[in-house]
Amino acid sequence: MHYRVTIREQVTIPAPAKLNLGLEVLGRRPDGYHEILTILQTIDLCDHLELEPASQLIYQTSVPDDLVARALRALELHNVTLRARIRLEKRIPLSSGLGGGSSDAGTLLGALWHAGLPEERVRSIAETLGSDVPFFLLGGTALARGRGTEIEPLPSVDGWFVVVVPEVSLPSKTPRLYAALTPSDYSDGSATLHQAERLRAHLGFDPSLVRNAFLRPLLTFEPVRQVVEHFRSAGIAWVWPSGAGPAIFTWSPSRAEAETIATALRTRGLHPYLTHPFTPDWESIATAIDVTVGAP
Ligand code: C5P
Repeated sequence: MHYRVTIREQVTIPAPAKLNLGLEVLGRRPDGYHEILTILQTIDLCDHLELEPASQLIYQTSVPDDLVARALRALELHNVTLRARIRLEKRIPLSSGLGGGSSDAGTLLGALWHAGLPEERVRSIAETLGSDVPFFLLGGTALARGRGTEIEPLPSVDGWFVVVVPEVSLPSKTPRLYAALTPSDYSDGSATLHQAERLRAHLGFDPSLVRNAFLRPLLTFEPVRQVVEHFRSAGIAWVWPSGAGPAIFTWSPSRAEAETIATALRTRGLHPYLTHPFTPDWESIATAIDVTVGAP
């Protein structure tokens, strides 16, 4: 079946960054990927996708051939015709472990799904774009399994996050960091499953259950080690990478405490983001988008 997507009125869609509140790698899979268990959380550090009515598809971005451009091509191939001017404004640091590129594509697909595009079509496109993309179809808090694409939504985590992105250039970062893992970095996923159980039971986030297999290989990069040292010298022992890094963050249940931590890091010359959980308002986004069945 063919679908036609038009924009009723101009809408700005926030595409949120994510943090991995624990990421355990269980081992290598026969398909070359790794089996993971992770808890994902979208936060209020967002790129902006601006959609406007137009007679044909026009996409403007500062990042050549990004995941949104690939999502738009995939939609065309899956018989979805978009008539819209789309502009992407980047704010999430690139290739930082905060999922910016995946969120841009996943949030756009999420908006189209909430506006009426069938879930299977949206989900299969999201999976082909990358392991992190399906999570962003809904965002919020979720447990992800498999290569990261099997998503189970969870009740939201509370509190505040202070995030710092070390200045380190890591070409082909994700495959490179996965390749740097050794069996000693693998774990059985039980800490992450326990965290998910707590959240399901509304017992709240337990920071002591966070693990991340990438911490060891990431600490071999001097800029990452220095950022972790700055957190520790500011009295913050609880520091973890998000995803395969290099973003490093801490969590606090209190906004005031998180602000104090951010200030302490600023005096050490770092540029922290003070963020908290955030989920796009899908219902209001969907009202600006019209999905109809029919030839282009
Ligand atoms: O799925 P995505 O394109 O983001 O993955 C990029 C690369 O990261 C993969 O080609 C693979 O090398 C590695 N990866 C992995 N296991 C995962 C996710 C990614 O080994 N669960």
